Amino acid sequence: MNIRPLNAEDVTVVAAWVVTIPLWQRYGASADVLAQRLLMALDTDLILTADTDDQAVGLAWCVPTGGFGRSAYLRMLGVRPDQAGGGVGAALLSALEATLASHDLFLLTSDFNVDAQRFYQRQGYEQIGAIPGYVLPDVTELIYRKRLR
Ligand SMILES: CC(C)(COP(=O)(O)OP(=O)(O)OC[C@H]1O[C@@H](n2cnc3c(N)ncnc32)[C@H](O)[C@@H]1OP(=O)(O)O)[C@@H](O)C(=O)NCCC(=O)NCCS
Repeated sequence: MNIRPLNAEDVTVVAAWVVTIPLWQRYGASADVLAQRLLMALDTDLILTADTDDQAVGLAWCVPTGGFGRSAYLRMLGVRPDQAGGGVGAALLSALEATLASHDLFLLTSDFNVDAQRFYQRQGYEQIGAIPGYVLPDVTELIYRKRLR
């Protein structure tokens, strides 16, 4: 597996598989909108992908000061469904953490996404709060934090 910055040529391919993930379907994700947002963020945000067999099968999108204007915020972490459970997500998250100067990394995860909650806890993240109805009216977003240094 090769972890590297996402580039403009990857955007359409990555956006196409991201929107097949049931989590983001529930949030109404559109491949075109996501591709547009990724393209706009390439210059400002830290966005990594992971290649297996020369295909971009992972996405880690971090906004460097998206956490209260002071800390890094993990906006999106996803792995192409046929590759889930193979360590791509953990490798992307570790690579991202290693490049950040921030003291903390924050993220949100859905209350129903217990697999991701277990994943983040195993990676050293701690739930520090919750925001009911923040994105979808019937879903509570759980706030996780990891102290990086
Ligand atoms: C969560 C996710 C990024 C983890 O990456 P990964 O490469 O699959 O995970 P790893 O192989 O490094 O670690 C395995 C753990 O990931 C989690 N996981 C595996 N498949 C998952 C899935 N389809 N959805 C959510 N979490 C999953 C589980 O906690 C699993 O641990 P387990 O063996 O105890 O079940 C990835 O599975 C994914 O993209 N899931 C769907 C989107 C999502 O939930 N993103 C995070 C939202 S904030």
